[in-house]
Amino acid sequence: MEQRVTLKLADKLASPERKRRYNEEMFAEIAPRYDFITRALSFWRDAGWKRELVALLPPHDAPLCLDLACGTGDIAFLLAKKYPAGRIIGVDVTEKMLMLARRRNACPNVGFFRQDMMRTNADTASVDIVTGGYALRNAPDLERTLDEIARVLRPGGVAAFLDFSRPASPLANGLQHALLKAWTSLWGFALHRNPEVYNYIAESLRRYPDRAALRSLLERKGFTIEHSRLHFFGITQMLIVRKIASTGEPVPCPKTLT
Ligand SMILES: C[S@@+](CC[C@H](N)C(=O)[O-])C[C@H]1O[C@@H](n2cnc3c(N)ncnc32)[C@H](O)[C@@H]1O
Repeated sequence: MEQRVTLKLADKLASPERKRRYNEEMFAEIAPRYDFITRALSFWRDAGWKRELVALLPPHDAPLCLDLACGTGDIAFLLAKKYPAGRIIGVDVTEKMLMLARRRNACPNVGFFRQDMMRTNADTASVDIVTGGYALRNAPDLERTLDEIARVLRPGGVAAFLDFSRPASPLANGLQHALLKAWTSLWGFALHRNPEVYNYIAESLRRYPDRAALRSLLERKGFTIEHSRLHFFGITQMLIVRKIASTGEPVPCPKTLT
């Protein structure tokens, strides 16, 4: 049974086009329960992690911020609070998630738009801050998404990501995969009477680069890693990166990120 389900899901994620379509359908289905399930799966730590991620961002007077895969808008609203004179654009492919974000929106400087994170409408080198909560792992094509982030960020601009992460060790990886699958199955059964519904998290993570490989990929795409913080023994990770200026030097941050 397990073999059949894994193969079916693997098939749905087999190409960027299929993964994008699968994501849109899946998130449209879980949208009404998304906020609850995200809190529950993280032992109610998710909101705190998002606050921590935004707190790590540098001070800025009026930045243009782009929140990729914004979902129901948590990070966009935190950005609006941190940068009241800034402009915050949240983008996502799932209209039902965007509808929930728009319904929650009481901030005049926040807008939500249906755009793919692999090709946004942002102008080249126009964005000061890019954020992504559980965004990169869901990217249909990770390399293209990182190229897009590098394109839209100004030289010296900052990107901040929160996501599940993988250790390089096969043993630790196998253990983490089994734990994650058991935990998501439990919630799938409790909420949908279907233990497989949230197994996508473990499956998408299995296809995602491990921490060392992700670091190398980010560096190859022109970013320096400014900060990395692990939670739950590394099951989740926060990463703050900076786009290297064209001279090859990172532009100094107004406030040191440690
Ligand atoms: C796990 S949710 C994260 C939502 C929100 N960022 C948060 O932290 O709660 C992943 C989101 O990615 C969106 N998504 C998936 N593929 C996408 C794509 N190609 N472009 C933009 N958004 C995408 C989904 O619609 C979903 O809202």
